[in-house]
Amino acid sequence: MDKNAKIYVAGSTGLVGGAIVQRLQKEWYTHVITQTREELNLLDKKAVNDFYQKIKPEYVIISAARVGWIKANMTYPAEFLYENLEIQNNLIWWAHIFGVNKLLFLWSSCIYPRECPQPMKEEYLMTGKLEPTNEGYAIAKIAGMRLCEYISQQFGKHFISCMPTNVYGPGDHFDAERWHVIPAMIQRMHVAKSAGDTTFWVWWTGNARREFLYVDDLSEVVLYLMENYTGTDFLNVWTWEDISIKELTYMLMDVMDYHPEIIFDTSKPDGMPQKLLDVTKLSATGWKYRTPLIEWLNNTYEHYKNTLMSDKK
Ligand SMILES: NC(=O)c1ccc[n+]([C@@H]2O[C@H](COP(=O)([O-])OP(=O)(O)OC[C@H]3O[C@@H](n4cnc5c(N)ncnc54)[C@H](OP(=O)(O)O)[C@@H]3O)[C@@H](O)[C@H]2O)c1
Repeated sequence: MDKNAKIYVAGSTGLVGGAIVQRLQKEWYTHVITQTREELNLLDKKAVNDFYQKIKPEYVIISAARVGWIKANMTYPAEFLYENLEIQNNLIWWAHIFGVNKLLFLWSSCIYPRECPQPMKEEYLMTGKLEPTNEGYAIAKIAGMRLCEYISQQFGKHFISCMPTNVYGPGDHFDAERWHVIPAMIQRMHVAKSAGDTTFWVWWTGNARREFLYVDDLSEVVLYLMENYTGTDFLNVWTWEDISIKELTYMLMDVMDYHPEIIFDTSKPDGMPQKLLDVTKLSATGWKYRTPLIEWLNNTYEHYKNTLMSDKK
């Protein structure tokens, strides 16, 4: 990509999109285009069409989506399916029509079958039933990935997609509608610690295994793929290491210096029992994951406390 190329990052106010914009700016890309939801509602087909026609971006990175944790997905499956289909269809299709050179679409590892063999290889996609708690979101993401593939095959474009999961870091959401595992735990633990609670409830059995990717590592991969990846196959983006929710809970207790009795609520659904991606394909392109989890949990907790303090001012 030319350093002066017009690069549109959709979803730049979000955790991942914000980090991608910062990464591009740090690497001296001079023409990064962003839009807030108020400036461009991505559900509005005509508005997205007009935007492409007027701005003519040369590259597009799609980090806009309706995103949420397990409870939000279970409560609003219709919105998760509908809004994500609309957002990605508008962004991907008009990018194709208006001659975008290269596009990267971010999707999520929840699209693999619930009982997927571990680690999950790209070819396991659509070989079994989806996890029911986030099925709407997953169906939309699969459709977006396929649309990129079909456009690439049919029209000789370079529309690619990659699949991270459980991203965390500064910029994360600490509100109950949108949070993921790490911000949810940090927020709840901080409140419990401040209240002097001697017991702490965890929403799950603690046995589910998950992997966590630091947001700056993800933004690095995204830029790496935009600059270097010439294939069209979608790629898993992962760290090769997973931990149980129980282990994560104890890690956070150390980070926050808070040691209550932990009670795991076994009546709540765990979601998929394990999610570990196989990153052989990504590794073959030359990229290597770097940041150890514990180091950046400290950083994320500091960010949370700073956000709390600035909200109180
Ligand atoms: N976070 C993770 O753990 C994770 C894991 C795997 C994959 N991903 C993928 O990474 C991408 C970004 O995730 P994220 O965690 O950064 O999510 P996020 O923080 O919730 O950000 C979503 C972005 O999309 C924007 N958006 C949503 N609906 C919109 C609309 N109708 N019009 C305009 N903008 C809209 C949001 O704008 P507002 O700020 O106005 O809401 C925000 O900028 C998603 O595709 C997600 O599937 C994330």
